[in-house]
Amino acid sequence: RFGENDDFWIFGYGSLIWKPPPHYEGNPIDQRIPGYIQGYVRRFWQASEDHRGTPEAPGRVVTLIDRKHWETLTDHHEPTEKVWGAAYHIPSVHVAEVKNYLDIREINGYSIQFTPFHPAPFTTSISSPSSTPGPTNTNPLDGPPGGEDNKNSLAELATKTTKSRSRSRSEIHAMTSISSHPSPMTCLVYIGLPENPQFTGPQDPEELARHILRSRGPSGENKEYLYMLEKSLSELGRGSGDAHVSDLAQRAKEIEAREGVADAGQMGG
Ligand code: BEZ
Repeated sequence: RFGENDDFWIFGYGSLIWKPPPHYEGNPIDQRIPGYIQGYVRRFWQASEDHRGTPEAPGRVVTLIDRKHWETLTDHHEPTEKVWGAAYHIPSVHVAEVKNYLDIREINGYSIQFTPFHPAPFTTSISSPSSTPGPTNTNPLDGPPGGEDNKNSLAELATKTTKSRSRSRSEIHAMTSISSHPSPMTCLVYIGLPENPQFTGPQDPEELARHILRSRGPSGENKEYLYMLEKSLSELGRGSGDAHVSDLAQRAKEIEAREGVADAGQMGG
């Protein structure tokens, strides 16, 4: 299923969302698709000794928990039905380089699974050649999705056009949009199995926010990871947020505003 040099798709649900694999340069050939997977729950329950913490003071990064295992746990936040992220295509010429890059993470307690990935629905607008140019194609392969927003702007455009000058009904009707739901595809995903030593299990959210505020590692401050994740998730599409992530980010920002970074770092064990 996963041959030595076969191309593959990888699902990013953590830093991969804003920090693409090494081969990715944003060229049209480098494919990145926003979308989601199901059957998992994203949580900041993975100790990070190599990226956002150290072996002496591990930070916290996200991992995915299989729904089957989730039922045995008690948590403060309701899980979201979909785990949003971004899938990257790894062409066969880059397989060795990317595997090498990602396998480093595997040492820190992650395991590989394959799961269906659902690309975000996108909207393509069509306008007749004689009408005012419509919004551009919003295929997610070309950049961030904007399907629903695009529909709104199309409606606005049609209204403005009618007001500004008289247009034939056929011209207005020619400006339309098609929503497309691409088929799911198989994606590789790294998950932290509960039996791995880095899996922390359920955490008190306030304590977790404080822990993130005081942690840092070779990749930078742990709070930067939290804030970047929250921001990147909100940019993926409609309803792409994660209540667990936004709640932690909110708590961390409030603690910083209330107590200052250094003090927040000293408190909470
Ligand atoms: C991620 O950023 O999505 C990720 C990548 C590899 C292991 C775990 C998470």
